[in-house]
Amino acid sequence: MRLSVNVDHVATIRQARMTDEPDPVWAASQAELAGACGITVHLRRDRRHIGDRDVEILRKTVAGVFNLEMKASEEMLGIAERIVPDMCTLVPEGEDELTTQGGLDIMAEEAEVKAAVARLKKKGIVVSIFIDPDVVQVGRAKAVGADIVELHTGIYADERAPETIQRELEKVRVAAIAANEMGLVAHGGHGLTYRNIEPIARIHEIEEVSIGHSIIARAVLVGVDLAVREMIALMDVAG
Ligand code: PXP
Repeated sequence: MRLSVNVDHVATIRQARMTDEPDPVWAASQAELAGACGITVHLRRDRRHIGDRDVEILRKTVAGVFNLEMKASEEMLGIAERIVPDMCTLVPEGEDELTTQGGLDIMAEEAEVKAAVARLKKKGIVVSIFIDPDVVQVGRAKAVGADIVELHTGIYADERAPETIQRELEKVRVAAIAANEMGLVAHGGHGLTYRNIEPIARIHEIEEVSIGHSIIARAVLVGVDLAVREMIALMDVAG
């Protein structure tokens, strides 16, 4: 199974001070050097973390698959057509949500989604749709011309009781099998962590996962030791 690293939250820290560090472009390079198959960013309408500059530079610097996650709005479709990422993942986007709340309900906007998929594919972009692990949605993703379905693992990740974890895991597995049978590639993502990744990694029908928050959160903690030592060393030299 391949890992695409989502570097949105590197940009979240940068935007907390409206400064220029940490740079998600640098983090993306490190993630690729560590073995990630590619980089994912979500360009939101409100630009709360990733900005246009990040997308432009990452398009030129990501060596693996550059996946632009976005709402199928006119603005984002225009950006994707200009930048031409390797892959676009269509997601729903609410104004006040902390993060993506669930999969795209393709049936609710099927004509628009179909038109968006066609526009992106015309540019040679591989199109993924983020959906709940639901066989009906998988079928609609196929019908609108998607190449990939990214199965929402967030409900599985949020469950705490063994039976409900198992139930949600099974939904992901069944949807992944259905996707493969329909000729779609299955990906997974949302809420995956160092603690819950293993059962997902055992689903061989899922080719790739996209993980952001947990990796960036861990990177902050495993990096604190060295960062503090480096600052103290500079102070010691000066003092
Ligand atoms: N996949 C999609 C479609 C997402 O919206 C997100 C969050 O930006 C992720 C994967 C990564 O989720 P997390 O940050 O919880 O790993």
